[in-house]
Amino acid sequence: MKCVRCKGKGIIYLKRHNAAFCQDCFLYYYNNQVKKNIKKHRMFDKKDKILVVISGGKDSMALWHILAKEGYNVTGMYINLGIGQYSDKSQQVVESFAQKNGLELIVKDIKKEYGLDIYKLSKLLKRSTCSVCGSIKRYLFNKIAYDGGFSAVATGHNLDDEAATLLGNVLSWEEGYLARQSPVLESIHPKLVKKVKPLYTLTERENLFYVLINKIEFLHDECPHAVGARSIMYKDVLNRLEEESPGTKQRFITSFLEKGRKHFQDVYEKVELKECSICGQVTTTDVCSFCRFVRLSNQNTEN
Ligand code: FES
Ligand code: ZN
Repeated sequence: MKCVRCKGKGIIYLKRHNAAFCQDCFLYYYNNQVKKNIKKHRMFDKKDKILVVISGGKDSMALWHILAKEGYNVTGMYINLGIGQYSDKSQQVVESFAQKNGLELIVKDIKKEYGLDIYKLSKLLKRSTCSVCGSIKRYLFNKIAYDGGFSAVATGHNLDDEAATLLGNVLSWEEGYLARQSPVLESIHPKLVKKVKPLYTLTERENLFYVLINKIEFLHDECPHAVGARSIMYKDVLNRLEEESPGTKQRFITSFLEKGRKHFQDVYEKVELKECSICGQVTTTDVCSFCRFVRLSNQNTEN
């Protein structure tokens, strides 16, 4: 296996590109992909303040590392969601990386700061913990970015995540979600901060290689609630397709972005947005779900 670029000894073979790379040329390829994605979708530039959402897993750690290394103005943001040991371990990994590399980091703890418990809320609301957790995270990413004057919120979503989400949304024609699925989601309200996914063309395996080569510490465990999640089943199915026909995931995403998404764009742009009567953040209802969660948690402790 020879490196396609320098003809040295290849250490990683990327089937969908029919190409092997040595360590240095892999890093060159990885860097190029990230730069290309940022430029192609006009995600941000060196003048922008970017809030990077960090979970402590390989994808977000890779994103934080590469953006900082490339000289972007990045601040990490970690939310402790109160998921037992998983949250404690990931917070440690994230804090130690920030400290070792002299990087800015914002840490929020939903229990200590807002009195929120995703397990109690999911019982009270009869919603899955993942869905409660997702609403809280989306709210806080945007609020902290908006309050802190950031121009974009960047997440470590990779090609496998994006293809699995797309498959799930296509299977039930979730028009609202399809409208929002994009590597860059421009703001449609002055209080909504732009969302970007610079790693959307890189796979989980490529992100793993990147963190291993750069000796970046990361949390190997997945969130315990991911077990049995539909997204894992979609990833399995897509992996089987990819095995038979390399490049399937990338084609699925790029052709959707080029030809499919425009049919749903109106759905995104036409949602009626309001400002929450309690916190002032953007919502589609009178009181946003985060404020309802806080209210519900307080009522429950008072009773
Ligand atoms: Fe939110 Fe797993 S990270 S439930
Ligand atoms: Zn609110």
